Order: sequence, then C-alpha cells, then structure tokens
Amino acid sequence: MKIITLLENTRQENSPLEARHGLSLYIETDNYKLLFDTGPDDSILKNATMLGVDLSAVEAVVLSHGHYDHAGGLRTFFQQNDHAPVYLLEGAQNKFYSLSRGLPYRYIGIDPVLFEEFGSRFRFFNQRLALFDHVQLFAVKDFGEFRPHNDVLFVDKNNERILDNFSHELVMSIEEKDSNVVFTGCSHQGVVNMARTVQEAHPALPIRCIIGGFHVSNTTTNRLTESEDMVIRLSERLKSMNILRIVTGHCTGVAGMSVLNPILGEALDALYSGKIIEV
Ligand SMILES: [Fe+2]
Ligand SMILES: [Fe+2]
Repeated sequence: MKIITLLENTRQENSPLEARHGLSLYIETDNYKLLFDTGPDDSILKNATMLGVDLSAVEAVVLSHGHYDHAGGLRTFFQQNDHAPVYLLEGAQNKFYSLSRGLPYRYIGIDPVLFEEFGSRFRFFNQRLALFDHVQLFAVKDFGEFRPHNDVLFVDKNNERILDNFSHELVMSIEEKDSNVVFTGCSHQGVVNMARTVQEAHPALPIRCIIGGFHVSNTTTNRLTESEDMVIRLSERLKSMNILRIVTGHCTGVAGMSVLNPILGEALDALYSGKIIEV
C-alpha cells in the first residue's frame, strides 16, 4: 500500500507544497484509491496536483471526525470528484466549537451547508462499517487507556453546549499482508484505545503500522497539552504493542515528537505534506 500525505501541518524545507493545520492522506492499494480526511481548505487540490494525485479517481472518502481541519477540503474535493461517497460516523455533522482563554467560542465543525448541498454524497454509519475488501471503519471503544484532555472542545446537543465525548471519531484499518495498517485522525479518544479497537476486531492480525495524529500538543503554542510524564507513558505503551512503524504528526506536534522519539526510536517516523509511506 502506498500512502501520500496530501496535507499536514509541516513540510520539508524549500518544499513548494502547502502546509496547514490539518491532515489528509491519499491511500492507494492494488484494488482501490481512497482519501482519509481532506485537510482544512483547498490546499489538497494544489498539493494533489503537484504530487501527481488525481482526486477525480478517488473511490471513497473517510472522515476521521467532524472537525474542520480534517473535513474543510470537502468542497474542493466535491468540485474535483462527482461520485466518491464520504463515510463518517453519525454525529460528525454536529456543531463543534473550541475555546481558547479570553476568546469567544470558535466554530470548528463541518460547514453545515455542505450537508444540504451535497447530502447524497454522505454515508453515515454507527459502530462499524466494511468498505471495499479489507477496509474497516470502527467507532472507538474505551479500554481505559490514555485519553487526551479535550477539555476545550465542545459540541452542541439539545440546545446545550457540552464537552465533546468524541463518539463521532472513527478509526480505520486496512488489512494487507496478513496484518493491519491503522489510521487515526487526531486520536481524541487516545491512540491506544483506537489500536485496541482494531485489535479486538481482528485478534489474529498484528498491527504493522499506525498513521495519524496523537493529540498531545497545541500546534499554535508548540507546547504539550498533556504532562510530559503522560506522553512518556503513552510512548512506552505504544512501544509495548510492537508496532513496526508509527508515522505521526499533525496534533502530535514537534513537542510530542521530541518525547516519542527517544522511546520509539527507529519505529517512529514524521508526517509532512508530501511524505510518501510505502507499507
Ligand atoms: Fe486535528
Ligand atoms: Fe480534531
């Protein structure tokens, strides 16, 4: 399987590609082409063109959760592609907000107009869904493993603004070569809970690679949002799972990478716009 990072927070020095707070991964196997998240805006089109990715040939889009930095490129995508369905968990269409100290609530959900304008393209599901052969989408199960704070992230429900429990966040697995590759968007529910959700469904299959953000940093301040001790324990827990490759970025942030790196060593790799992962 080949994964091309269409968009991530960072890019290599002198790269002409766009880098934005967000994530978008183009995934190509022998049998299908899919998009996991779309980044925050139209940058995926510019980057896709430069990276030789034809968005019109994408057969399905998976949205990790209902936040703009993963779904904001949808309009651009729909302009390029008139057929691929968009798979997302029930609840991802809700209104989400973030709160920074001293500032009003900021809307961070999906543009609601998209659901009216392109309603027929969305495929909502609950709990679990199989796509093509070997692609599985799961609602995340809580195994009591590390879970980020998420205490500035809210959702409107029944006319009330409450803390988001992230039931709209999915984990995706692709089975190939007798093992699974696991994709996470932000891991708001904890990357280990996400990996174990996949493991529980496929007990005989090891996870050979995990790709996505781990939500341990604020990428504006470049600071950890969890205690360093907590991120060290998360790194050690990931190491204990014997996953051959861990490719992360986005809300893992530079601060998170510097804690993960000495513990995970060669298994760890960084995402950036244009990063190609053959796995
Ligand atoms: Fe994110
Ligand atoms: Fe998010």
